[in-house]
Amino acid sequence: MKPNESSRTALIPARQRAAHQLLDHGSILFDPFAIKILREDEKDVLQFANFHPMASIGRLLTAARSRIAEDALSEAVARGVRQIVILGAGLDAFALRSPYDALEIRIYEVDHPATQAWKRQCMAEAQLALPPWLIFVPVDFERDDLGEMLAGAGFQRNSPAFFTWLGVVPYLTREATGSTLDYMASIQSSEVVFDYMEPPQSFSEEMRELVTEQTEELEKMGERWVSSFEPAGIRSFLRAHGFREIEDVDFQEITSRFGRAVQGLSPGQAGLHVVHAKH
Ligand SMILES: C[S@@+](CC[C@H](N)C(=O)[O-])C[C@H]1O[C@@H](n2cnc3c(N)ncnc32)[C@H](O)[C@@H]1O
Repeated sequence: MKPNESSRTALIPARQRAAHQLLDHGSILFDPFAIKILREDEKDVLQFANFHPMASIGRLLTAARSRIAEDALSEAVARGVRQIVILGAGLDAFALRSPYDALEIRIYEVDHPATQAWKRQCMAEAQLALPPWLIFVPVDFERDDLGEMLAGAGFQRNSPAFFTWLGVVPYLTREATGSTLDYMASIQSSEVVFDYMEPPQSFSEEMRELVTEQTEELEKMGERWVSSFEPAGIRSFLRAHGFREIEDVDFQEITSRFGRAVQGLSPGQAGLHVVHAKH
């Protein structure tokens, strides 16, 4: 990311969530704030959703990764976890629609300072009030100490926590990914849901062309996908960083669990995965 500019790529999943409400009736992820926080016309959202036949795959992945995270989160809350940390939150509106308001839960939204300032502006312009359980923590994963910044915001490192980290790992160096995992693993009973990409060879030919086009678009926006992992590689990386229980949901599994809920889903193979890892 450019140091003083908000993440322009944060708009992509935000539009996908909005398109999922319009085209698929939020059947994987129902989010009544998705369109409101974006403040774009429905026709622009639909144009984005239809710009490329394979765009439906991005919509599936964005909705499915949040659904996987939120299902795992609800089990963690049932076990007594009361700290939720949303890393690289972008325009994710989970904190606004959290079903846990009666439970004294704290939701820490961590994001690059420029993206977070932009989100706050979007919320103010959309007249969305800050819920009392939401705490913003501006952090650059490449430069700042996540633990220090969270502790400064009131996070209790001796209490369990659930982390979501969606759509972020591909943008980080392995060093930043590793040090963030180290921090998460240092919290007792912590768990995390995140997604990662395999190298381009694991995508079908048509998808590979789309990945190449998107890579060029990202470069123009000043952002880059800098890390990819093989499935065996992510397992050993997670183990080396202190995680023991690892569930890796691949694209085929995502399609069979959720694909029917996405209108006009294109066929294709994508090296996209969602991981749920416990310390
Ligand atoms: C593609 S967006 C995903 C946003 C959100 N999780 C979602 O799914 O809508 C990537 C997010 O990663 C954040 N990000 C990228 N590099 C970062 C860094 N070095 N430090 C902090 N956040 C970063 C961006 O600010 C942005 O919010």
